[in-house]
Amino acid sequence: MKVAILGPGRMSSAMAGHWARSGHEVLIAGRTPDKVAALVDRLGPPARSVDFGEAVAEADVVLIGARGEGVAWTIEQAGAESFDRKVVIDISGPISRPHYVGDGPSLAEDLQRLIPGAHVVKGFALNRACTWDMEKISFDGHPLSIPLAGDDEGAKTAVSELVRSMGCTPIDFGGLERSRNLEAFAAVLVRLLLEGHDQYEVFNLLVRVPHWEDAGAAQRA
Ligand SMILES: NC(=O)c1ccc[n+]([C@@H]2O[C@H](COP(=O)([O-])OP(=O)(O)OC[C@H]3O[C@@H](n4cnc5c(N)ncnc54)[C@H](OP(=O)(O)O)[C@@H]3O)[C@@H](O)[C@H]2O)c1
Repeated sequence: MKVAILGPGRMSSAMAGHWARSGHEVLIAGRTPDKVAALVDRLGPPARSVDFGEAVAEADVVLIGARGEGVAWTIEQAGAESFDRKVVIDISGPISRPHYVGDGPSLAEDLQRLIPGAHVVKGFALNRACTWDMEKISFDGHPLSIPLAGDDEGAKTAVSELVRSMGCTPIDFGGLERSRNLEAFAAVLVRLLLEGHDQYEVFNLLVRVPHWEDAGAAQRA
């Protein structure tokens, strides 16, 4: 697949490393040429520096790597219509009260409104950037599960393939409206991390347990 990274930030650069290593072509566009060049150098030949318009035009999947305040500017560089029918990954973390409580609209829904012809998929925002620095992304021996929310099944299939390329397990979490739940969940995780719990401890929340009906039956027995 061809994956465009719009804004080589902490998150997107680490994620792009997995995709380049697993053979995807990575197209990088950003506002700071030195940062783009440094990432292209680090990733090697599967990566290329392109402008925003080329990145979107060529890509099968576009990752918006810019921070919240730069998203509208980033979209403008390529033109909103250029995103028509493109799969677009939104990784943005919650920034204000409606996102913390899941009382929409979510950041992913806001992005979808900016690029109405695109197929936006929300994912990856439950994890800190350092997660993607891990060579093998697993906790307690289990690959990390990554819930994805989006309205287009084909788009979720494409992003699921990228998740598997990272050695992780995709979970179809439903339509884009469910991104409200993902952003609220991200707020819980961020708060735990900021309060001093380490990442390993926080993600122990996700360790496999018996199905709740089985667990209930075991308790009653
Ligand atoms: N960091 C995390 O652990 C984490 C975890 C979960 C979700 N997220 C989400 O991931 C997204 C990216 O976060 P990050 O930590 O990777 O960000 P970052 O490293 O600070 O930078 C991301 C990119 O945003 C660009 N940018 C910043 N301000 C801009 C502006 N005003 N106009 C245009 N571009 C601008 C930067 O451009 P330059 O190249 O010019 O610097 C850079 O390419 C955010 O939405 C964040 O909420 C982050």
